[in-house]
Amino acid sequence: MKKEILGILCSGNGSNLQAILDAIQRGELETTVGIVLSDNPKAVALQRAQKAGVPYVCVNRKSYATREAFEAALLKELQAHKVTVVILAGFMRILSGQFVQAYRNKILNLHPSLLPSFVGAHAYQDALAYGAKVTGCTVHFVDENLDAGPIILQKAVPIHEDDTPETLIARIHEQEHLLFPKAIALLLADKLRIEGRRVHILP
Ligand code: GRF
Repeated sequence: MKKEILGILCSGNGSNLQAILDAIQRGELETTVGIVLSDNPKAVALQRAQKAGVPYVCVNRKSYATREAFEAALLKELQAHKVTVVILAGFMRILSGQFVQAYRNKILNLHPSLLPSFVGAHAYQDALAYGAKVTGCTVHFVDENLDAGPIILQKAVPIHEDDTPETLIARIHEQEHLLFPKAIALLLADKLRIEGRRVHILP
């Protein structure tokens, strides 16, 4: 089987990056991290990559006048590191069709809600404010539309009476750290088949 090379894109803390690096370290994910990339020079994710001894680079969004130029720089880095699979682990930029086209069905995103509920950048705060009793997390393929690509795995997380945004996201993160490596493992094992909106998981 072809060995995939991951490009992991982050903007912030990178706790999900850490979960992926740890899973690789434990031998649960047989893959190589080609590059960890952040649009934000202050992202803790970059420090995590450095500590783990994997290549990392900041492509600062502020250095580029347009989204096209920024994405061209991202693609250049990914290609320079021979990346075959792109993992969006808390990457807070919306990618254009041009980017999606370059890695069609090879981009995975993690979202902190049970999609299609609560799309967008405030998913867990929105679920709490809405009064939902259950939310969760979703790993999905990325297509041209926001938080809309075919769903690979989901995990429900209860919302408790006394939850604050902080306690809720902590509970969601626990599940995300398990779910994302699991979904990546399925992709690496070539067990995912997309049929329209449905992703079939081979045994
Ligand atoms: C996660 O909650 C993920 O669902 C969302 O961004 C957050 C990233 O957290 N897309 P971290 O940077 O991995 O800690």
